[in-house]
Amino acid sequence: MADSRAVTKAVVPVAGLGTRFLPITKAVPKEMLPVIDTPTIQLVVEEAAMAGLRDVLMVTTRRKNAIEEYFDRNEELEDALAAKGDEAGLDEVRAPAGLAQIHYVRQGSPLGLGHAVLCAAAHVGNEPFAVLLGDDFIDKRDPLLDRMLQVRQQRGGSVVALMEVEPDQVSAYGCVAIKPTDEDDVVTVTDLVEKPEPGQAPSNWIIIGRYICDPSIFSVLAHTPPGRGGEIQLTDALRTLAISDRADASGDGVVGPDGGGVHGVLFRGRRYDTGNKIDYLRTLIQFACDRPDIAPEFVPWLREYLDSMLPASSAS
Ligand code: G1P
Repeated sequence: MADSRAVTKAVVPVAGLGTRFLPITKAVPKEMLPVIDTPTIQLVVEEAAMAGLRDVLMVTTRRKNAIEEYFDRNEELEDALAAKGDEAGLDEVRAPAGLAQIHYVRQGSPLGLGHAVLCAAAHVGNEPFAVLLGDDFIDKRDPLLDRMLQVRQQRGGSVVALMEVEPDQVSAYGCVAIKPTDEDDVVTVTDLVEKPEPGQAPSNWIIIGRYICDPSIFSVLAHTPPGRGGEIQLTDALRTLAISDRADASGDGVVGPDGGGVHGVLFRGRRYDTGNKIDYLRTLIQFACDRPDIAPEFVPWLREYLDSMLPASSAS
């Protein structure tokens, strides 16, 4: 069912405690951890802005003020840079505030991702919207959100981004059962399960942190009981939408919320994970090797460093 309502809003939950990065996250929000010199949250907001989503609602909480500071102007710093004639520095400092109109709502208690999304209901209203999680971001050269928005427009309902992983990784993610459509990179999602027990996953396709949600998700979330980890899960609410659409289609009389079904976009591009230490380090190294202002000095050093770490016998 095609839907002409344009998606203009992005919801970015930033209320997580960041326990995987303690002790730094005691005082610094994990979203502010830098990829070299740019906080991960800026890369996520840039992704939304590049897809035309220039109304960004952050679902925030206590001790996350650094994020608001970052997306605000800093006139003192701007004046100092202007006095030095540092135009490049000025551009860098002003850029975050110019990316999008950023709004904030607080999630008072850590009741889960589904609850964080529900906190966005009043701001979003009765419009489809995107959800971008801050633990990963997608390479600008592989515009995933654009494709997801296209699928939403053509097919209605909700859309999740999917990636295939090794079977032993599936239980760290939301996972889906899928069936093909007439497009190679689009599937119908027939079931979803949040962090399945090893061996119980319906496939090796996992949900990465990009969603387009039909606004009917809000009324479903409001009635979704706590699931995995005792938290209200977005995955469980999407499951309700996927299953009720399937039930309606089978004509078995089960009428669910009228929100359309759930489709998946199979993503095979470059995604950077910053949600755990090893992947975060991989991301830093990849970015350093890709940046023209850093790579010429950094890459030869990295090569030499790695060579120097080889056991003497294997170095030639
Ligand atoms: C969340 C979602 C999960 C999804 C993951 C992607 O989990 O609940 O379904 O696969 O993000 O990063 P979290 O990483 O917050 O535990």
